[in-house]
Amino acid sequence: MRVYQVLLLGVSGMAIAAFAVFIFYGGGTGGKGLSSIGGSFALIDHKAQPKTDKDFRGRYMLIYFGYTYCPDVCPTALQSMTEAMDNLDPKTQKKITPIFITVDPERDTVKQLNAYVENFHPTTVGLTGTVEEIAKTARVYRVYFGRAKGVEEDSTDYLMDHSSIVFLMDPDGEYVTHFTHATPPKKLAERLAKVVGP
Ligand code: NI
Repeated sequence: MRVYQVLLLGVSGMAIAAFAVFIFYGGGTGGKGLSSIGGSFALIDHKAQPKTDKDFRGRYMLIYFGYTYCPDVCPTALQSMTEAMDNLDPKTQKKITPIFITVDPERDTVKQLNAYVENFHPTTVGLTGTVEEIAKTARVYRVYFGRAKGVEEDSTDYLMDHSSIVFLMDPDGEYVTHFTHATPPKKLAERLAKVVGP
């Protein structure tokens, strides 16, 4: 267990999100760090099809990491992404794929994801995978996640702590910018329209 994980024990999800942003910006990378966010992944989508980062080339990816059992933050983020997408003109909208990557692959099966993404923008792609592949994907996006303390180790009724960042990646899979679950949908739509264009 690393020092920052110890520090995170027992803190609220919001504090964790704030701290994750701190980690995200920190590390003494001197500004070069942001361009190294993102990378390759090999996961499985909500239709049980294998999907890698390369399958999304040519389109912007609007990526959020979370889990379907999340009571508040994840639905807020995905609803915001949905509303932002709905506010874009159809041409711009077609250039963006909203992507939800689970940090809870043990409960977020293909079937679970398939039912969940139906609540959000119709082009949303849900991704799950092996525990190892999810951990690797979160790592390349510098997303923190872990099972929240306070429930039995073998319980299936648990919460996940995780950072809450919406990443915008360009058609080459390169980092452009990011938002949070708290970014208002209107602002998100404005930024997307500006970056992606008509
Ligand atoms: Ni969440």
